[in-house]
Amino acid sequence: SNFSVGYFVGSLAKASINRRLAKALVRLAPDSLEMREIPFGSLPLYSYDYDADYPPVAREFKAAIAAVDAVLFVTPEYNRSIPGGLKNAIDWASRPWGQNSFTRKPSGIIGTSPGKIGTAVGQQHLKSILSFCNSPMMNAIEAYIQFTPDLISEDGEVSDASTRDFLTNYMQEFSDFIGRVYTALPRSA
Ligand code: FNR
Repeated sequence: SNFSVGYFVGSLAKASINRRLAKALVRLAPDSLEMREIPFGSLPLYSYDYDADYPPVAREFKAAIAAVDAVLFVTPEYNRSIPGGLKNAIDWASRPWGQNSFTRKPSGIIGTSPGKIGTAVGQQHLKSILSFCNSPMMNAIEAYIQFTPDLISEDGEVSDASTRDFLTNYMQEFSDFIGRVYTALPRSA
């Protein structure tokens, strides 16, 4: 693989449709990408009281982000924003001040919802957050996936050919985008 990608599944639910989407993306990713999940469900609620001495779980979390070339957010929209657990994880990653894990870390955003606007409003919030965190984001293509029953199986098999093609292309575009970021900006910069 050329690049490692750490993916965040924004939902903590056992039956998460976004986890299904993430599994599909892992299956459909090109060989240029090595995909691994960055879990965040065991992080406590962030407070800057922790900044002087991050607990081991938070240090491991930040080390997992440092170890990948790019991050991919696969997230539901909750109340027209991102789930609180994901925001908490991003807050942990962004601190202590001066050690923001997302600085210059390329990112992509994708999500699925049973609703017709397919997480578009939540994604806009996430773009705002990642912009502040200085992450170069893939702006196009966008991916708003309306989930219909059986669209993606529990183990990530996509039943619909046009959706499968779209997701395959999304991952290829993401790989190309990461390549362009690192061409323009050496990793050590
Ligand atoms: C939702 N849902 C939802 N859907 C949407 O399209 N826009 C929204 O703002 C919300 N808000 C929302 C809030 C909360 C607290 C819940 C639990 C759900 C519905 C949501 O898309 C649906 O439950 C999906 O199954 C969530 O994705 P995961 O968690 O299954 O991956």
